[in-house]
Amino acid sequence: MIKISNSDSIICVFDNFLKTVFGNLSGTGRKNPGDQIEITDLTNEEKKTSANLMRVNHAGEVAAQALYQGQILFERNSDMVDYFSKAAEEEADHLNWTSSQITKLGSRQSYLNFLWYGGAFFLGVSASLSGEKKSLGFLAETERQVEKHLLGHLKVLPGNDKSSRLIVKAMLEDEAGHAHWAENSKSYVKLPKLLQNFMQQGAKVMIFFSHKI
Ligand SMILES: [Fe+2]
Ligand SMILES: [Fe+2]
Repeated sequence: MIKISNSDSIICVFDNFLKTVFGNLSGTGRKNPGDQIEITDLTNEEKKTSANLMRVNHAGEVAAQALYQGQILFERNSDMVDYFSKAAEEEADHLNWTSSQITKLGSRQSYLNFLWYGGAFFLGVSASLSGEKKSLGFLAETERQVEKHLLGHLKVLPGNDKSSRLIVKAMLEDEAGHAHWAENSKSYVKLPKLLQNFMQQGAKVMIFFSHKI
């Protein structure tokens, strides 16, 4: 891990915000799994259904960037910072894959991405300042909730949209890996039920609005 000053950290976060919301964030360089299959035989209605779901997933990835940046900002444990940075790069792949898929489906991203980023960044900072145990509990719970959400999408995505399905499946694997890492960290403690429910309600608000706006 390279030590950087506080002012540099804030510039890095701002840079991440701009690239996340307006594009051009670099990830791990993995190929977009959705590019393996062309979107050809979808009806307009199916395209609209897929695009709405992928817009929600893209908004989730905007939030994921902000969560990790927020968790990194005040974290002092270098192992945690290293893992958060690695995970954030994988989330950047998800962000780019879902963004490209929305374009292929002829739709647009959520107009509220800057809000999702701001809210999630605040949560990431709060989790980090609450200490290592809560930070890990928060990370694991977030990733497990995302995993459940993506499994739900595999049930409702049009059956012949194999391209979007490949993206969702690849994301699922990564999210499970992130949760697994947190749950197997020495300081991990599961979050209390009340906080888990609060996070679920917050996610529902984001899903509702990013589906439409
Ligand atoms: Fe993700
Ligand atoms: Fe993740």
